[in-house]
Order: sequence, then C-alpha cells, then structure tokens
Amino acid sequence: MLLTPSQTKESLLRKLRGVNQVPDLPIVLAPLLNYLQQPVDSMQVAEVVRLISRDKALTAQCLHLANSPLFGRWQPVDTVHGAVVALGLRRMREIATSCCLLNLTPRASKLDPVVFWEHALGCALASRHLARAVGFADPEKAYLAGLLHDFGILMHLWLAPREFQEAWEKARAAHIPLQDAEEEVLGVGHSETGRMLAERWRFGDPLVAAIGGHHDVAKVTAHRSLVAIVALSDVLCRMGGLNHGYSEERQVDMVEEPAFAVLSEEFPAIHTLDWERLTFELDTFVVEVHQLVNVVSCPK
Ligand SMILES: [Fe+2]
Ligand SMILES: [Fe+2]
Repeated sequence: MLLTPSQTKESLLRKLRGVNQVPDLPIVLAPLLNYLQQPVDSMQVAEVVRLISRDKALTAQCLHLANSPLFGRWQPVDTVHGAVVALGLRRMREIATSCCLLNLTPRASKLDPVVFWEHALGCALASRHLARAVGFADPEKAYLAGLLHDFGILMHLWLAPREFQEAWEKARAAHIPLQDAEEEVLGVGHSETGRMLAERWRFGDPLVAAIGGHHDVAKVTAHRSLVAIVALSDVLCRMGGLNHGYSEERQVDMVEEPAFAVLSEEFPAIHTLDWERLTFELDTFVVEVHQLVNVVSCPK
C-alpha cells in the first residue's frame, strides 16, 4: 500500500537526514560531486584524477566521453590524467558531473532514466546559453546548476520510488508540473528534497539555491540571477522536447515568468533577447543531448 503524502514526506525527510550516503549509490559519487562544484581555479588535477579513478565504471565512462567527437578530440586519451590535461579541468568537470548524474539514476525504475538525464543536460546547455546571452559572469556555474537542478527527482526515485511513480503518472495524466504532483502525492517537491541533499553533500550556496529555488524564484533571496537563469531554462526545456517524458498543458509567456523579472533587474540585455530564436536553438541542443546520452549510456 502506498503511504499517505504526510507519511511519505516524513519518511523521505528522515532518510535524507539520517544518511550521508544513500544506500546502494556508488560511494565515490558524493565526494566527487562535492569536489567538482568548487571554482576550477582552486581544483587540483591530481585530486580530480584520484576521485574519478576510484570507480572503474565511472573512469571508463569519462574516458569514453572524453574520446567522443563531441568533445573535439583528435588524439585518443587512455587515462583520466591524460583526459584532464587534453580537455582541461572545466570540460572534465562537465563530463564527470554528467557521468555521476547518470550513475545516480536508478536502473530498476519503470520510468526511463534517460528522459530525466536528457532534461538535466538540456537545462545545463540552455542555462549556459542564456547566461552568455544576458551577460551573466559565470556561464559554467550556470551549466552545472542546470545539470543538477532536478537532483531531488533522483532522490525521490531512490527513496520513495512507488510514490514518486504515482506522482509522475498523475502529472503526466493532468499535464501539470511534476513539482506540483509531487507536493500532492509525496507531500514534498523535488526542489525541497534536492536542496536538503545538496546541503548535506556540501554543494556550495549557489548550487543549493538553484536546486532549492528553481520552482519558486520569487521567494529566493540569494544567488537570484543564477536561480532565475536555471528556472527559465527549465521552463524552456519542459515546454520543448527535453521535458520529463510528457507535455505540460499551459501557455508560457517567458516575459511573464517571475524569473524574467528577477533577471531584468540585473541584466537589461534580457529585454532584447529573441526567445523564438532561443527556442529554435534549443532544438539543436536536443540533438546534442541525444548524442551525449548515447555515448555515455552505451559504452563500447
Ligand atoms: Fe524541477
Ligand atoms: Fe527541471
């Protein structure tokens, strides 16, 4: 029998509070994800190599992606250290974070994990694109925040799979945002559970803000521009071909989104942004995302 929303919420929060490591997850992922969220300038190549190399499957995935034409390699690399030297820490951070995220997606779920991963990657690409278009100072941070923004969904898949599935089916049938259906069925949305785990895994304040605030930008008080960039990119993806496996039935006017108001305070360039063109460009991301997913999820 399914738990009630308040029972599910209580059980989820208890599990999140009580464990440093979600059971069954590869032990390397939390420290690696944690390490990768700091500024590239303060990262040590040796530490990145050490953390990735602790997990053989992760190492193989990272090398596979590093050697793919998507990252423009001419000379093959066969060690993590070689990949970091050839591609740079910034690129390697993207690759390793993507691989971690894919490995965090449970395989046994009836829901297609690739769908969620594609949404995350799409949001990462859209966030970086939007950040550059408006003049946000750190587009790479926007990319990472986009990649991890729905982290809470993964936690729901691990910690309350049956209830999450009911929420997803409800959202799909009613064409409503997944966050709303989760609040109804689980008593808590993925932004809240994601924020809790991101704090616990010490992702750093900007990422915690983006993960916790992307569905309620108006209430966010810190790192508002970053959260708003991720929130708008999330809406673009959900309305486009990189959604959560179903379409939402609502007309979206980007200019009316609360995130637009937040961004327009700091970045006047947003007023001249061509949203139609941005949406069109998102279609090219769909192709790129599918290629990336194929490379990482089907290593030779
Ligand atoms: Fe979300
Ligand atoms: Fe999302």
